[in-house]
Amino acid sequence: MTHLPGSVDDLSDDDLLAAYTDGAEGTAGGGWLRVNFVSSLDGSATAAGRSGSLGGPDDLRVFDLLRRAADVVLVAAGTVRDEGYGPMVLHDPDVAWRRARGAADHPVFAIVTGSLGLDPASRVFTEAPVRPIVLTTSAADPERRRALEAVADVVSCGEDSVDPVLVRAALVDRGLARIHCEGGPSFLGSLVAADLVDELCLSIDPSLEGGAGGRIVHGSSPELRRMRLAHVLRGAGDVLLTRYVRAR
Ligand SMILES: NC(=O)c1ccc[n+]([C@@H]2O[C@H](COP(=O)([O-])OP(=O)(O)OC[C@H]3O[C@@H](n4cnc5c(N)ncnc54)[C@H](OP(=O)(O)O)[C@@H]3O)[C@@H](O)[C@H]2O)c1
Repeated sequence: MTHLPGSVDDLSDDDLLAAYTDGAEGTAGGGWLRVNFVSSLDGSATAAGRSGSLGGPDDLRVFDLLRRAADVVLVAAGTVRDEGYGPMVLHDPDVAWRRARGAADHPVFAIVTGSLGLDPASRVFTEAPVRPIVLTTSAADPERRRALEAVADVVSCGEDSVDPVLVRAALVDRGLARIHCEGGPSFLGSLVAADLVDELCLSIDPSLEGGAGGRIVHGSSPELRRMRLAHVLRGAGDVLLTRYVRAR
């Protein structure tokens, strides 16, 4: 007898997206904050320094579908730099899906940085279909701030450090209630510490990284944040696509 979860191949994009959004309540009021990560079996968030070689095609399918359903894609600067992010441009089918539902063609790209160490001349900004938001501190370097203000809305969310509670509130206040966070580990640490994670979508890649790769979260939380299993699906190459929702 086998005990394997159902295959994602049996689900259309709409069915799969419905599985990922079922019960995502709270879009009125405080919004809904989902984070999406991939990990090796032995808990590494990277292989050779990046997450891209983990997960495979079905993790990518979910990655794109979760962007499709988002008002804003929230990423911290370390991941933007290390993963070489470009502008937040969705694929044509995702745009069509959003248009059919009266949503903006693309989600807003929101980037968290204390140092403002982002290049205003990078494609993230110059090719952005929607003006990005940079979430920083009021103490951040004024010159860098001015340069980024030319290409993005720059919002202070704390004095000396970026407070994730203020980040969430700033996005929700702008009507960006469906917040989709793609990392990275340090920022996830601050979200967990502040108990702001409503949902974790975690793909588990069936590989042993076997080295010094870090976990999907760095930081320290005052207590365990219990999550409830919402689904497990099996993808190509035996990747597991899991969805956990905060048990409050
Ligand atoms: N497995 C996965 O699913 C996954 C997902 C994402 C990333 N990653 C990997 O994670 C690595 C990057 O890790 P990371 O921890 O450096 O990235 P990170 O969490 O994306 O970025 C950390 C940076 O975010 C900024 N920041 C501002 N306020 C913060 C706050 N309150 N808490 C935390 N960060 C804040 C700081 O940028 P400034 O220096 O600009 O002030 C800080 O250096 C890369 O290797 C990437 O490939 C893996």
